[in-house]
Amino acid sequence: MPTNTSIAAKLTWMNIAVTTVALLVASVGFLFYDQSNARTSLVTSLSTQAQIIAANSVSALEFNDPESARQTLRALAASPNVEGAGLLTPDGQLFAEYWRSADVRVNVLPSLSPDKQQTVLFFSEKVTVIRNIDFGGRRIGAIYIRSNLSSLNERRNRFLKILFFVLLACMGAALIVSWLFRRTVAGPIAELADTAMKVSREKNYSLRAQPSLAHDELSTLITAFNEMLSQIQVRDAALLSARSELELRVQDRTKQLVAANRDLEAFSYSVSHDLRGPLEVVNGMSYIIHLQYGNELSPGLKDCLDRIDDASKRMNELIEDLLNLARVTKSEMHRERVDVSAMAREIFAELKQRHPQRVVEIVVASDAIVVGDAHLLRVAMDNLIGNAWKYSSNKSPSKIEFGVRRANGTPVYFIKDNGAGFDPRGMQRLFQPFQRLHPLSEFPGTGVGLATVQRIIQKHGGRIWAEGAVNEGATFSFTLDNAPES
Ligand SMILES: Nc1ncnc2c1ncn2[C@@H]1O[C@H](COP(=O)(O)OP(=O)(O)OP(=O)(O)O)[C@@H](O)[C@H]1O
Ligand SMILES: [Mg+2]
Repeated sequence: MPTNTSIAAKLTWMNIAVTTVALLVASVGFLFYDQSNARTSLVTSLSTQAQIIAANSVSALEFNDPESARQTLRALAASPNVEGAGLLTPDGQLFAEYWRSADVRVNVLPSLSPDKQQTVLFFSEKVTVIRNIDFGGRRIGAIYIRSNLSSLNERRNRFLKILFFVLLACMGAALIVSWLFRRTVAGPIAELADTAMKVSREKNYSLRAQPSLAHDELSTLITAFNEMLSQIQVRDAALLSARSELELRVQDRTKQLVAANRDLEAFSYSVSHDLRGPLEVVNGMSYIIHLQYGNELSPGLKDCLDRIDDASKRMNELIEDLLNLARVTKSEMHRERVDVSAMAREIFAELKQRHPQRVVEIVVASDAIVVGDAHLLRVAMDNLIGNAWKYSSNKSPSKIEFGVRRANGTPVYFIKDNGAGFDPRGMQRLFQPFQRLHPLSEFPGTGVGLATVQRIIQKHGGRIWAEGAVNEGATFSFTLDNAPES
């Protein structure tokens, strides 16, 4: 039976199989019993006939009248199954015989054991009954009657035919009974399975299986299933309300965070902006002191003034960078088609012009066209190529490449150099403002560049990451959303 058959069909098949097997076993037993009874009555009937013929043949045997014996034997023609019979003398010689037809005639005479009154032989679909004939305490001969077993065979065939129809009727009855039982047994099981399927498909825990009126294992199963559903429904509702509460809280916190961030940025912007004024005063005063009292200053004071100059210059740079970072965050995006390859080539040309002494091998992938804010992308590319230029200044020749590759169908742009590289353990800090992995004495900078780049890339819906090792160069890769084929 296929494993995906329904329980109702399985029950029906089971009923039919049980009925058939039970009926077959009972029928085989009955057939055996019936055949054995039929054999016994056949032998009894043959024995009776043998006794009658024997009684009627006494005088023929006594007076040696075979013709009269043959006459008596011919009476057996009335029994359709008897094929032949014969009378023997006491020494086993044939005295008289009768055969229904020549083709059933047998020439071999049966022999009777001396100590038995009667012998029955079943051999190749025939039965032979042999009986002694005694008269006045003397054995005067023997008689044998030979019969076929067609009556037994007919009886067996009739039985098998009836059995076939009874079997058919029983199967039909089993089918009807199964169908009636389906409603009470298979029906609720099928409905339970149906409900379970619906619940799992629709995730609707308010559904319930139809309770059974009976008090059996099935009704216990349905009740347990429904109780389980009730519990899940309660937990599901609790989970949903907890989730929506959590979502509300997250939204609330996000709003607070955004507001705080905005305040912080506005604060840092205005602080940076306001610092410019006093700084310009410091610069101006220092310039005046240099101009008016330059020659009168002692070398110690001169050194102090130079340091004030350096510090205010660096502070100015920091303020500029901070303002740029804040501007990037605040600025509106103007999306357009941007040729990043041309942009990179332009930046390299400017850098070469500013540092004509540097030997740099430059590779720029052609036709990197993206959709983005041209101004912001220029700031990002300036920073990334500027970094590669700066941090590879210790190598000659330096090698810098701007390229594009594809990862999972998305274009990934990268700027790769063979410069100082960085310790990968510090990777998380690279994109945080004012975090630097190289000392100021080695490479100048404020540490705001990559933080600015990251904000720009994120504004474009992309991601930026870095790979590198100390003295083995660095690669900065980024993706942009809505980037057309490069
Ligand atoms: N191409 C690079 N190779 C090695 N280290 C790099 C590279 N680019 C950036 N870094 C490391 O990341 C740090 C942060 O870079 P970022 O551009 O933000 O700052 P910066 O270059 O030091 O200063 P600036 O704000 O002037 O750009 C750098 O100090 C440097 O240690
Ligand atoms: Mg930089």
